[in-house]
Parts: sequence; structure tokens; C-alpha cells
Amino acid sequence: ISLKPYNSFRIDAKAKFFAEIFSEDELRSLFQDELVKTQKLLVIGGGSNVLFTHDYDGLVIKISIKGIQSEVIDDKVMVTAGAGEVWNDFVNYCVEHRFAGVENLSLIPGTVGASPIQNIGAYGVELKDVFESCTAFEIKTGEIKTFTYHDCHFGYRESVFKGILKGQYIITSVTFRLSAVPKINTSYGAIETELQSRGIVQPTIADVSAAVSHIRVSKLPDPSTIGNAGSFFKNPVIEKHEFADIVAKHPDVVHYPTADDKIKLAAGWLIEQCGWKGKVVGQTGTWKNQALVLVNHGQATGAEVYHFSEQIIDSVKSTFGVTLEREVNIL
Ligand code: EPU
Repeated sequence: ISLKPYNSFRIDAKAKFFAEIFSEDELRSLFQDELVKTQKLLVIGGGSNVLFTHDYDGLVIKISIKGIQSEVIDDKVMVTAGAGEVWNDFVNYCVEHRFAGVENLSLIPGTVGASPIQNIGAYGVELKDVFESCTAFEIKTGEIKTFTYHDCHFGYRESVFKGILKGQYIITSVTFRLSAVPKINTSYGAIETELQSRGIVQPTIADVSAAVSHIRVSKLPDPSTIGNAGSFFKNPVIEKHEFADIVAKHPDVVHYPTADDKIKLAAGWLIEQCGWKGKVVGQTGTWKNQALVLVNHGQATGAEVYHFSEQIIDSVKSTFGVTLEREVNIL
């Protein structure tokens, strides 16, 4: 089966086996199959954070477990969503019900079940800020386990599911701790500017969601027309003494302080400075409005995109001495 419809980069790789799963029971029965037990496994949601560099010689499982329930407790609301809910549908549900907390994460591609794995984040909010718990199917035992906030070891685009527990669990639902009273976060400058340009002084969560969606659409390629997987690299976090060397040579380097007294650099800026922004190389390149996003202009192979990303890493390394790390999962 071709994986082209199942990855947002629109890479035409093939999977040896493919299964789409709609319930925890279906997961359990799938793993009772002897053939399944012998296969290499890849679990996908929206396929919006993977780059296939070759065909997949194993079983690809697409999680499509649906359903959203909510329970209001005083000024809090606990919302549980099936792993296969499309992330932005979930955000829209929350905005419509006036459950505050995820509106800054509007229009992020992918599914609810994928959101804790890399602790998705945008515009001043990270998944971990609203995460209560998740349930996950343990592949070895077939049991459903609950993971609390503390179990997940969230970091910048990191969690236990990418780390020590990689490949051992399949997330089946996520519970979010949201607010039944609006709490607006416009700390990210671009939101404030967008709201001002709309003449909005006291924004609702729907206003914030609309502003974020507008910013994303203007900066990021629409995966339904141009294959991509969002930010291809992470923003590198470096020590203060390393930063001192860089800023001495490049006084205008875009940077932010981190909570643990380090410095985060804007990878998009580094890449742009190296002359890559909007470059088209064969069927791949960087996006014209956001150099951190690599795109497929139609017929790119995963290997071609990967090779291009190596050129960018080399170039940023030789100009700034900083090694970019890929954020997208390479397969
Ligand atoms: N910049 C440039 N040139 C570029 C791109 C960016 O100079 O081509 C500079 C600009 O100064 C800009 C700054 O970098 O002000 C930051 O850019 P932006 O606000 O677009 O955010 P980002 O740091 O590039 C991160 C996340 C995005 C998230 C945005 C908004 C990562 C790896 N990426 O990007 O997340 O949407 O912040 O909060 O942390 C994703 O993870 O897939 C993703 C899209």
C-alpha cells in the first residue's frame, strides 16, 4: 500500500502491511495475530511529523480512535479525546464550548494521540501546559496504562514516548485540563500584533484562535497543497558562553532565554542567514515565508529531502558552529 495519503510530506513510500484501528479492542485483537507480532511497527496519526526515506518493511498502524467527552468541575474542565481525533477539530470543539487552553495551538496538523509524544507547541503554549493524563496500550502485555503529567517527562518537543519508552506504547486517548473561565495568553508578540490590527482589545478565545490561524496560514505552507511536516528542525538550545561567541560575530541573532538559563536560537533565522530561505533544489526546498519548513514541490523522494536537510545542517554548522537537530522523525 502507498503511504502517500498518510503522510503530510506526500512522499510516495510503500508499507508492507497497513492497518487502520478504530478502538482499543481492535488494537488488542490486532496484536493477537502471530504475523503482527513478528513485524517491525510504525504507529501514525496524521502522518504530519514523519519523512519516509524508503519503503517501510513492516506494519504501519494508523490510529483512528474517535470521541470527545468533557466534564466541568467548578472553573476547570476535563476533556478526554480519542487519539485519532484530528487535533484542530479538537481545538475547534474546545473553542466552540468555551473551554480555554488550547486556542493558541490552533491549526497544528496531526492528531490528539500524537500531541504528547513530541509535546507540540506554538505561540506561547505547549501541550504540557494543559495535559492531565493519557491512556496507552502496552504492546508487550496488551494492557491499557494511564500516564500522568509526571510520568511523561515533557521537554521542548520531547517526552518519555520519544525517549525511554519509544516503541512500547500506543496512545489511545488524552485528557486535558482546561479552564471553563477564559484565560487568554497573548504573550507571543505576533498574536498581540494580529489582534491589534483587527481592533480587538479584549479578545475571546475564539479571537485568539482566529488570530493564530491567520498567522499560521500566512507563514506556513498548507499541507493539502504543498507537502511538508512543519518545522523540520528544532530550535537549538545552547549554553550562554556559546551564545556569547555567536552574538559577538552576529549581533542581530534571534534568540530567547530558556527557563533553565540557556539560550534558544531561532533555527529559521540561522537557515535564512545561510541563504536557504525560499530555495528550490530539485523537487524540494525551504518554504518562502519560513525557512525552518522543508517542502515537497510535488515529486520529491524522502531521500532527496533528507539529503537537502544535510546540506542545511552542514551550512549552519560552518557559519554559526551550531548543529541543527531534526524535529521530524526520519524513517
Ligand atoms: N525567522 C527568520 N527567518 C525565517 C523564519 C524565522 O528570521 O525564515 C525568525 C524570525 O525572527 C521569527 C523567529 O525566527 O521572529 C521565530 O519564527 P516563528 O515565530 O515562525 O517560530 P519558529 O521558532 O520558527 C516555532 C515552532 C513552530 C511554532 C512557532 C510559533 C519549533 C521547532 N517550531 O517556530 O512549531 O508554530 O514557533 O510558536 O519550535 C512545528 O513544530 O512544526 C512548528 C511549526
